[in-house]
Amino acid sequence: MTNKFSAMACVALAIALSACGGAGVSALPVADTQAEINALNSPSNAKLNIDLNDSKDISKTLFGIFFEDINYAGDGGLYAELIRNRDFEFSPAIGDDRRWNAKTAWRLDGDGTTFDIAEDNPISKNNKHYAVLETKKAGGGLVNEGFRGIPVVKNAKYDFSVFAKNFSNGTQPVTVKLIDNNGKVYGTAKVNVSSKDWKKLSATITANDDCKSAHFLVMPEKEGKIGLDMVSLFPQDTFKGRKNGLRKDLAQKLADLKPTFIRFPGGCVAHGDLPRINGQAHSGLIENAPNNDVYYWKDSVGKLEDRLPIHNRWGYHQTRGLGYYEYMQFCEDIGASPLPILPCGVDCQFSGGQQAVPLDEMQLEIDNVLDLIEFANGSTSTKWGKVRAEMGHPKSFNLKFIGLGNEEQMSEAFFTRFKMVFDAVKAKHPEITVVGTVGPSADGREFENGWAFARRENVPIVDEHFYRDPNWFVNNGYHRYDKYDRKGPKVYAGEYAAHESGQQGPRRNTMETALDEAVFLTGVERNGDVVVMTSYAPLFSKQNDTQWHPDMIIFNNNEIIPTTTYEVHKLFSANAGSKYINNSMVFEANAPANYERNIVASVVRDGNDGKGDIIIKLVNVSTNDFVIDVNLQNVKEKFQTKAISKSITGTWKNTDFKLTENAVKVGNNFKVALKSRSMKLIRIPVK
Ligand code: AHR
Repeated sequence: MTNKFSAMACVALAIALSACGGAGVSALPVADTQAEINALNSPSNAKLNIDLNDSKDISKTLFGIFFEDINYAGDGGLYAELIRNRDFEFSPAIGDDRRWNAKTAWRLDGDGTTFDIAEDNPISKNNKHYAVLETKKAGGGLVNEGFRGIPVVKNAKYDFSVFAKNFSNGTQPVTVKLIDNNGKVYGTAKVNVSSKDWKKLSATITANDDCKSAHFLVMPEKEGKIGLDMVSLFPQDTFKGRKNGLRKDLAQKLADLKPTFIRFPGGCVAHGDLPRINGQAHSGLIENAPNNDVYYWKDSVGKLEDRLPIHNRWGYHQTRGLGYYEYMQFCEDIGASPLPILPCGVDCQFSGGQQAVPLDEMQLEIDNVLDLIEFANGSTSTKWGKVRAEMGHPKSFNLKFIGLGNEEQMSEAFFTRFKMVFDAVKAKHPEITVVGTVGPSADGREFENGWAFARRENVPIVDEHFYRDPNWFVNNGYHRYDKYDRKGPKVYAGEYAAHESGQQGPRRNTMETALDEAVFLTGVERNGDVVVMTSYAPLFSKQNDTQWHPDMIIFNNNEIIPTTTYEVHKLFSANAGSKYINNSMVFEANAPANYERNIVASVVRDGNDGKGDIIIKLVNVSTNDFVIDVNLQNVKEKFQTKAISKSITGTWKNTDFKLTENAVKVGNNFKVALKSRSMKLIRIPVK
């Protein structure tokens, strides 16, 4: 190993350790380590030797997140909009539900008002439909059910806005109400519709009580005829208080992971299905391109009413109110680098075979990518930098990475088109690091072909995907990267998850899946010089609206349901380091050979310079309890201090788990109780 500590640094380390307790540690109750050891069941012994003189630099972007609008992660989830089908653009062509139409999620209340959909003079060519309400008798109105209900919080303020026009003379006062099934009203506001042309109106509603599942009533107050579009209701209390912002608890949950990057907008969502004309695939960027679901970023920026809703790959309507600007703003808000994934001329192989853009249309796809870099980083005097500034962000978003493609079939058609885009980015933007792709699997012909191409073309980083049996993560995952060529492209393990086998019903997040992933992640940290990024997939799942299991964060309108997957990953991502410290686990003589992969450790040091806290992660997927004798070697002076200890225990084949946090006394040598099928983190503060 390289980067040896100097003798001076060792002394300094000892002094710092003896002098500090660490701010977070002092608030925690001190655990009785000996009592924990005594409570173990016939434990085995192992020694963990940690050589503080022997370390290597590892990636500072090792743990990130992959956000895709799957399982209602975006609309109905992270995106805080509470009105479903606010734009009246739902259609059978846009969702997998053939019953969907412009009226979906809306219904009439009472019989004094009629509700129709019109298309003449819409607010935008991308937003063709709007509601027409004709009132003969006041008292009822139009009801929106939200995304399976609208959560209301006492004293919270809600921003209501609507585009409206009056087909009648005079003014039509419109009252809006948050109301439950029993008719209880939780808040109300009023706007006056008098303009003959579209005009944006807004008002604030303050909630007078809590309601887990309200609905929203739009009530014209007298006879007349009005047009309505973009009927919107946002809590004011979004993440960082941003307008058009994110649901605070979900965004905070992501921020707590301390991700170093966010990959978006997919996944399969990113490259979709190219449009066809007479059976021939075309770029979706040609003029008057037919309906398609390739995610072209330009359709997701600018005014909300001008954004183009998209047929979501996962069968629902994406408003794209959560678009590229909002993704990048969120990255900035939590200190993560944006990693947008862009299509590069071929579409998803899983929708009837890969289709490719004709070569003479590829310039459109290339410009699409170059323009995104301009949108993110260009000065405000550039075309797309100006759009960013007009949206409220004159400063650059500091885009450093872009991903080209998502687990495409590794065909000649793909290689040709990838290279066209890759070469153009390198030529114009050498400062941008391109992430390529090597197909949907952890091995096999496509994977090999993808890697051969990446090596040949010097693609800086490639994105590997693997959804595998839990055992795979221990038996193959743990050592996977030990022998990877350090001189070739680096690795982004961009989508991975342990999928439990033999489960009747949806695959779950269990102790087994989470801890087997943890074994893999200790291998990733050990190989953090060649694996430079990782992200679990998928990130979110909304209860009752889920297309894919398992997922890291499960939620409904009112709460977040804890998962082992999230907590285990947080132990890694919120406790990442910039140096890996050489360590070895030594078992008793005649210990079973598989102990080497079943009781594992990784040790890193925090801080940009790798001189911060010493972080030890211990994972035990065996059926034995262990006492681990930890030896910090090459610390010149004796020290004693308090460290933070976090443990996760639970039932192996089940979803329940317990997270314990306390302080423990540590020194140059200390013992740790490591229960069977558990994970423990020890964070030793170093000033
Ligand atoms: O994570 C779910 C899906 O799995 C992603 O959209 C796709 O890239 C992969 O096949």
